[in-house]
Formats: sequence, C-alpha cells, structure tokens
Amino acid sequence: MTDRTTARLLAICIACVGGVTAQTTVAQESTTTTPVANTEAVLPNGQDMTPDYMENGRWYTADGIPTYKIAEDGTLDYATFSGYRRYSAECHVCHGPDGEGSTYAPALKNSVLNIDYYEFQEVVASGKQDVNKAANLVMPAFGTNKNVWCYIDDIYAYLIARGVGELPRGRPAKKEAKSDEFAAQEDSCMSG
Ligand code: HEC
Repeated sequence: MTDRTTARLLAICIACVGGVTAQTTVAQESTTTTPVANTEAVLPNGQDMTPDYMENGRWYTADGIPTYKIAEDGTLDYATFSGYRRYSAECHVCHGPDGEGSTYAPALKNSVLNIDYYEFQEVVASGKQDVNKAANLVMPAFGTNKNVWCYIDDIYAYLIARGVGELPRGRPAKKEAKSDEFAAQEDSCMSG
C-alpha cells in the first residue's frame, strides 16, 4: 500500500466517523430537551405561542390560539397534560408515540409547526386521504368523536409543546391539578 492510498483511506474514515457523530448529536438533542418556561416561543410560520389568557382552564395566545404553559419548575398546565393523554389514546396508534410519527402517518409535532391551528382543526374534523400515494393512507374524520373533539385544543397545545422542543418525550412528570373551569367545560362538552 502506498503512502498516498493510506492517507486517502484515513481521510475517508475520518469523514465517515465525523458523519456518524454529527447524526448522533442531533438525535440526542431532540430527546433530552429540558423544559423551560415558554415566554418567547415563536413558530416558523411566525405565530407567537406565548400564553396570554386562560379560558375554561386552558391557555391561549393573544390571537386566541391554544398554547401550553410550563412553569419554571417544569410543572405543565393541566390542559396540555390532557392533550398528552388524548393524543396517546386516539392518535398514537397511527402517528407514533409522543407525536414522533410512524411509517404510516406523519410526525404531528412537526406538522403543527407548518400548518396553522385552523388547518389542524380542519384535517382532524374532516379527515384526509392521500389519493396520489401508492399506499392507501387514510386520516379518519374525528369531528363527531367527543373523545377527540372536546379535547382538540389540548391535543394541539400538546403537539406544539412537543414541536418547539420544550416538552420531553413520555408522560409529563409534573402537572397542575384539573381546575373547576376545565372540569365544567369538559362535562358540558362530553354530555352536550
Ligand atoms: C387510522 C390512523 C390514524 C389515526 C388514528 C389518526 N391519524 Fe392523523 N393521519 C393519518 C394519516 C395516514 C395521515 C396522512 C394522510 C395524508 O397524507 O393524506 C394523517 C394526517 C394527519 C394530519 C395532517 C398532517 C400534515 O402534516 O399534513 C393531522 C393534523 C392529523 N393527522 C392529526 C391527527 C390527530 C390529532 C389524531 C388523533 C386525534 C389523528 N390524526 C389520528 C392517520 C391517522
């Protein structure tokens, strides 16, 4: 083996190891994010997700878009925790755990950064079918399913928190108690 060949092999090997290391770093970043208070969260589409007011025990932005709130000590607002539970019960089976996506359906933690709240609601209410794809991918319509529709804002807030990287994977460790306002709205929606 000439010196030049050895040098070239060495260069390829270093590049290859470098590539692997870079990928591992990215994968780790997305799973080990520490929760922080979302005081300055702005989505790629320009939507400011800062919580502004509370209604029915849920946080909304100044534009009336559902959002999450994580206290300095990591305590999650109850509605976003409710979103985690509903997501896990109704969406996880196709969209994968923690909004991460599956081979069958897209990662919703990323979708909510690209589509807005109203488009999100529309797809969940009416469903979607990609007729152009060879595989028969069907997103069911949930507009009349109360287990989804009564909690649509919670599911959205949960996916946003996941998408911006402020809520780690898995069951949120610390959450607020359910408020009377939340319970009252939940009862009227589920029985209405
Ligand atoms: C039976 C499987 C299935 C279930 C259950 C399901 N989805 Fe889907 N969903 C899909 C598939 C498949 C697509 C992609 C459809 C397409 O591209 O045409 C999709 C697409 C979507 C999209 C559009 C994503 C984008 O990037 O455009 C949203 C939003 C969505 N689903 C939300 C939800 C929510 C919220 C739930 C739980 C309440 C849920 N889905 C439950 C299969 C499912």
